[in-house]
Amino acid sequence: MTRDEIFSALGLSDANSGVYAGGWIDGNGGDLASINPTTATEIATVAKGNTDDYDLVVASSEDVFKEWRMVPAPQRGEYVRQIGNALRDNKEALGALVALEMGKIAAEGEGEVQEMIDIADFAVGLSRQLYGLTIASERPRHRMMEQWHPLGPIGVITAFNFPVAVWSWNAFIAAVCGDTTIWKPSSQVPLSAIAVQHICHQVMAGTGFEGAFNLIVGSGREVGDTMINDRRIPLISATGSCNMGEKVGTATAKRLARSLLELGGNNAITVLEDADLDLTTRGIAFGAVGTAGQRCTSTRRVIVQSSISGDLTKRLADAYAQVTIGDPLDPSTLMGPLINQQAVDTMMAAVGIAKDQGGEVLYGGGVVEGKDGFFVQPTIIKISKDAPIVQEETFAPILYVIDVEDVFEAIEVNNGVVQGLSSAIFTNSMKAAELFLSHIGSDCGIANVNIGTSGAEIGGAFGGEKDTGGGREAGSDSWKAYMRRQTVTINWGDELPLAQGIEFG
Ligand code: UN1
Repeated sequence: MTRDEIFSALGLSDANSGVYAGGWIDGNGGDLASINPTTATEIATVAKGNTDDYDLVVASSEDVFKEWRMVPAPQRGEYVRQIGNALRDNKEALGALVALEMGKIAAEGEGEVQEMIDIADFAVGLSRQLYGLTIASERPRHRMMEQWHPLGPIGVITAFNFPVAVWSWNAFIAAVCGDTTIWKPSSQVPLSAIAVQHICHQVMAGTGFEGAFNLIVGSGREVGDTMINDRRIPLISATGSCNMGEKVGTATAKRLARSLLELGGNNAITVLEDADLDLTTRGIAFGAVGTAGQRCTSTRRVIVQSSISGDLTKRLADAYAQVTIGDPLDPSTLMGPLINQQAVDTMMAAVGIAKDQGGEVLYGGGVVEGKDGFFVQPTIIKISKDAPIVQEETFAPILYVIDVEDVFEAIEVNNGVVQGLSSAIFTNSMKAAELFLSHIGSDCGIANVNIGTSGAEIGGAFGGEKDTGGGREAGSDSWKAYMRRQTVTINWGDELPLAQGIEFG
């Protein structure tokens, strides 16, 4: 699809408003240019919101929350079902817009929209399953139970690398839970957020619940900082770097509010000598090269038993040589550009540091010459486990290969970083796989066997430990983060027995 076809399908224009407060309003925070990373040229402009606009958004979210929370959850699910259907109708165009604005290939852009559709379906089912427990009371003729109530307007801060899906993990679950959401997308990819907001608006317009899903494009300093410090927002769900998460975590902790943090990863694939190396090579290539290494789940380290290291790195280099780099909207492309020039500079700096620390570049290591956009070569660097650069998450397609002697050392290296998002082991040994999954195995939020580190399904809880922030989004019981739990005890007898057998008076 061309830019103009995408724009007309999704209701975008050359100049767009970036603020939705129960309806589109003009943003007063200045113009933001959305840049196509494939060509380094402007796609369109967006009028950002300022703090006054932000107050209008919060007012709308608070007002609608008062009504929305009283709509039966399955009816709230019905709205989400309709948004899911509208996303089905717009899958190709929205996937193409993500490719145009963010630079991931169209197949991955559509995959991201599919992730939205999947979480919509999940949320619809969940809307009839917001279960509480009943608990045996120690007192006669007493009933104890837990019930779950909506929290309020939720702030959702998303990163550039998943411009649409991560919002939906939060917004759809929050919506069936009875919350309203305020979305602050990354300023790198505002058009994707605006297109999604148009799709929501199609469904919500005229219902009186338009403000269940609000949006404000704005600067981190102005809008983001205001939101994380705002006592009206009981939960901030944020995806981004560890530095950003620390800021959000500190600001919310200071006002004793909740945060749900999904931050950096430094994900490793362990490869043991009994692994199926065809499968392993494919798993590593998708994990490290997919999305040009810009997923939080991207494979950054391969921890390999030294006996097969040479064989594996040769297979990887052969696979990397087949990666076609170019326009993400061209179906033959496997790797698009990085998001911006700064990302290219950061990657080149990391390659330089890795070399200084004894790293040997086995593949790539440079920029792609002769292109206007932000194109780099997928890169493989053989390096020692002790090199400090290996501790860092560089948001780019750099893969560090680290040799180890056995599975025990592999687990030590896997866990020997500050981040704890995703991990994987390729092996045909049942004992080694179980060890990796045991209490003394991987310390990450995600641990896979014979599957790479990225590409998780929405049905599981998504997130990680340590500096990754500890939050869990998407499936399983992640919905509990978006509600408040109330323990209820009801006395239906004629006496007032006290717990713990206390006699009083
Ligand atoms: C992210 O990079 O922030 O597991 C999310 C995956 C995707 C989500 C990644 N389903 O790779």
